[in-house]
Amino acid sequence: MERTYTSPERVPKKTLASGTEIPMIGMGTFGSDRFSADQVAEAVAGGIRCGYRLFDCAACYGNEKEIGRVFQAAFEEGVVKRSDLFIMTKVWNDMHEKVEEACRKSVEDLQCSWADLYFIHWPFPNYHAPGCDGDARNPDSKPFSTEEFLSTYRQCEALVDKGLIRHIGISNMTIPKLKAVLPHLRIRPAACEIELHPCFQQEELFRFLLREGIQPVGYMPMGSPARPERDMVPGDIADLQLPEIRAIGEAHGVSPAAVALKWAVQRGQIPIPFSLHHYEENLRCVIEDPLTQEEMDAIARLEKGNRLVKGQVFLWPGAKDWHDLWDEGGTITV
Ligand SMILES: NC(=O)c1ccc[n+]([C@@H]2O[C@H](COP(=O)([O-])OP(=O)(O)OC[C@H]3O[C@@H](n4cnc5c(N)ncnc54)[C@H](OP(=O)(O)O)[C@@H]3O)[C@@H](O)[C@H]2O)c1
Repeated sequence: MERTYTSPERVPKKTLASGTEIPMIGMGTFGSDRFSADQVAEAVAGGIRCGYRLFDCAACYGNEKEIGRVFQAAFEEGVVKRSDLFIMTKVWNDMHEKVEEACRKSVEDLQCSWADLYFIHWPFPNYHAPGCDGDARNPDSKPFSTEEFLSTYRQCEALVDKGLIRHIGISNMTIPKLKAVLPHLRIRPAACEIELHPCFQQEELFRFLLREGIQPVGYMPMGSPARPERDMVPGDIADLQLPEIRAIGEAHGVSPAAVALKWAVQRGQIPIPFSLHHYEENLRCVIEDPLTQEEMDAIARLEKGNRLVKGQVFLWPGAKDWHDLWDEGGTITV
């Protein structure tokens, strides 16, 4: 198949606090309980060949073996070297006490020798089964505990010492949780993966992360139109349908998705769009024809507090509702 190739050299980069360079756009690999592991792996294979070098994986996406076969084939065919890729993966909630085991399995499945960035996927060990529906609750779920989080994080620090991972990441964090844990970390987190799209910009958290030298990585950069049913509720806003986004797209002759990605990269977060069908244009759009300052300002005004991953499946007995997960009152909700 003929592909549009975007030279990885032309893709904008960020420098992490460690001095390591990371591409400013990556490919997401969560099939949203809709797309098979083989379909996602095929997109990764195509992504490598059209110039993606950053991949956002996770044990709980259930496709690391298939993606690993794609990485291995690309290495063997000489398409890329391992060191050309920046591979991120995550420890799932049921492995917080066995981080090394989880990480070794991911690295083995991905056939990547090491993880460039290893995220703690959620800041608590509350487990939900893959593909569960929105009403699913686990009676063993517990509120966030600083001590438990630090215990999980220290296991990640040990993995840096052993060379199995190069950087540690955190995900789905809040400012109160960050303030509680950051003073106790021996190795600073390099990045924090959070939901970021035009209708959910998390400006305060975004600024906090930048001030702390922690790179924001933005998940669901297009508002995840095909997200799992459990994350769809009446009242959610579709970013790509907003007239303002569509008008900017028309002015540039690009799709609304391209507008969301240009905005993300120009703002300074690293978007990790998932795509089976549009990944070539998604990479290409961030190397050409940037948005104007007026357009960036117009998108900044689209903030609507529209969190899509409410996380209700992680609630613990006694919790009020999903707002409790996000410490909206400014202190950690327990
Ligand atoms: N840390 C966490 O807790 C967490 C949570 C959620 C997600 N993530 C990560 O973030 C990644 C991205 O999130 P996501 O997949 O939920 O949402 P997303 O990237 O915002 O949206 C993906 C959807 O957008 C469509 N799309 C992509 N490019 C398009 C274009 N140019 N034009 C029109 N439609 C386009 C895709 O369709 P096609 O396939 O048809 O192109 C796909 O259905 C995930 O894959 C995962 O790696 C992390």
